[in-house]
Amino acid sequence: MAATAAYDEIADWYEAEFSPRSSADDSLGVDRALRDLLGRGDGRCLEIGCGTGVHAASVRALGWTPIGVDLSAGMLRHARGRLPCARGDAERLPVGDASVDAAIAMMVHTDMPAYPAVLREAARVVRPGGVFVHVGVHPCFCGGFADRSDPEAVVIRTGYGDGHWTKESWTDRGIRDKVGASHFPLAELLNAVLAAGMVPERFAETGGSTPVVLALRARIPAGGSPV
Ligand SMILES: C[S@@+](CC[C@H](N)C(=O)[O-])C[C@H]1O[C@@H](n2cnc3c(N)ncnc32)[C@H](O)[C@@H]1O
Repeated sequence: MAATAAYDEIADWYEAEFSPRSSADDSLGVDRALRDLLGRGDGRCLEIGCGTGVHAASVRALGWTPIGVDLSAGMLRHARGRLPCARGDAERLPVGDASVDAAIAMMVHTDMPAYPAVLREAARVVRPGGVFVHVGVHPCFCGGFADRSDPEAVVIRTGYGDGHWTKESWTDRGIRDKVGASHFPLAELLNAVLAAGMVPERFAETGGSTPVVLALRARIPAGGSPV
C-alpha cells in the first residue's frame, strides 16, 4: 500500500470546503441516488473508498450498519467520528469473503484506475444475494473532454472514447484538477460490472438535464456467478 495517498494532501480541503459545498442541497443527486438504489435494509454495508465518511449518516438512516475502507489516512482522520473504518486498498479489500450484506462505491470510480478489479473485490466481499451500489460521475458528460462551465450548453470535445487519466478540468473548484481522474467510457464501465459477476437491477441519472451522476444497483447472485 502506498505510504501516502493522493487524497492525504487535500483531505482538510475536502472536509472543510468541498463536501459542505457539494452536499448543501444535494443538487447533484448523489444522496438521492444512494437512498433510492440502496434502499432500506439491515446488516453491514461497506463503503469502498469512504473518504471522510459523509455518506455514513444516510446509510445508517436506511437501517444499515455502515463500515468503511479508504486508502487515505488523511481522509480517514475525518471519517473516524462517522463510521468504523480501516485503511486499505479497494483492490485488495481487508474484508473476508461474503462477509458484508451490501457495498457501496460513492464517487470513487474515477479515482480507481483498476476499477474493474475493485468491482471483483466488491463481488467477493458481499454475501450472495446482497447488493452493490455504484454512484459515480457520469462517464458521458463528465471528464477532461467535457466543459461544463455553462450548464445550459455542456461541450463534449474529442477524447470520450479514450480511457485515460487526466488533471484537465473546466473548473478549479473540483477534484480532477487537484488529484487527477481516470475515465471509463460507458460500455467499459457497465461491462466491468457484468464481468465482476454482478447482475444490474436499476440505473439512475441525476444532477441536471445533462446529468452529472450515473448510478446503478447490482445484485450478487445467490446461486453463484452467472458468468
Ligand atoms: C472523491 S473521494 C470520495 C469519498 C467518499 N466516497 C465521498 O463520496 O465523499 C475518493 C476517495 O477514494 C479513495 N481511494 C482512491 N483510491 C483508492 C483505493 N485504491 N483504495 C481505497 N480508497 C481509495 C480516496 O482516498 C478518496 O477518499
